[in-house]
Amino acid sequence: MTPPARRTSLTGIKPTGEPHLGNYVGAIRPAIELARDYDAFYFIADYHALTTVRDPAELDHYTRSVAATWIACGLDPEVVTLYRQSDVPETFELQWVLSCMTAKGLMNRAHAYKAARDRNREAGLDEDDGVSMGLYNYPVLMAADIIVMAADVVPVGRDQVQHVEYARDIADRFNQAYGARFALPLPEHVTPDEAEGQTLPGLDGRKMSKSYGNHIPLFEEPAKLRKMVRRMKTDSTPVEEPKDPDTSTLFALYRQFAGPEDQAALRARMLAGGMGWGEVKDLVADRLEEVLAAPRERYRALMDDQAELDGILSSGSERARERAAGLVSAVRGAIGID
Ligand code: TRP
Repeated sequence: MTPPARRTSLTGIKPTGEPHLGNYVGAIRPAIELARDYDAFYFIADYHALTTVRDPAELDHYTRSVAATWIACGLDPEVVTLYRQSDVPETFELQWVLSCMTAKGLMNRAHAYKAARDRNREAGLDEDDGVSMGLYNYPVLMAADIIVMAADVVPVGRDQVQHVEYARDIADRFNQAYGARFALPLPEHVTPDEAEGQTLPGLDGRKMSKSYGNHIPLFEEPAKLRKMVRRMKTDSTPVEEPKDPDTSTLFALYRQFAGPEDQAALRARMLAGGMGWGEVKDLVADRLEEVLAAPRERYRALMDDQAELDGILSSGSERARERAAGLVSAVRGAIGID
């Protein structure tokens, strides 16, 4: 008996900023783990970034930076197909077909567009002020990204779940019209950042997020990294008193980077009393440095060696394109454009 075909996981990362520890724990690490059980297609959504980024050097920098980050964090480009969205032009052809299957009303209800409209209304502006067609069509492009690779599973953050549901709706609409000739797979979202123990608190104890300004950059210099950990909020429990690991931001951070034995050891020491917050902070900073030193070095090397990174991305793009071309050709056949 032939084994069942492996299912496909796909996700896109918008190249708009430097990754932080929360991205690593909530998105990068779980997506890399998912690639053990799925055929994984991970890409840099550079055309999605164009809805906001206007500086070409910045777009180029962050595109490389995202690719280098994922490789530095352990993505094996021989196993995972890592590519740039813009290198798969079939996506944009499919986007048109899908936009013809998409109700305009669906786009009117998309969270990002609705939020922009609400802000405009509140400010007394025209409701579409500053809204580009790129922002409006963003979910259709994302549906095309997913469908062009016939993805089954899409790991995303909570804020992107609606978009994956839209992709599913749109694929379903296509299937209602053409399913007898060619049926698209219906994608499902998974939200690793909601899985137990995969959210990371930031410097102030709230969820780590760039928008709160409480984040620790993933590849921060060692001295700065230590300083940031030292700045983390603690309560005023005196050194000799026991400390509760389950309400401690520092322990929550440590857990993500320590094995079960080390976690149990720190837990016991905190509960026993006699361990000051300063000492806990040193331990956390040491551990982060241990885990991040090698990826940081790999990241820098990749950022310095354009040729290596370009080589990895172009071989990924080639594989991705081949798959996309197959799908788009089937779609063309189904709609009567051969
Ligand atoms: N919109 C996603 C984000 O902002 C990025 C993205 C683009 C994506 N295309 C995708 C995610 C396809 C998953 C699948 O984070």
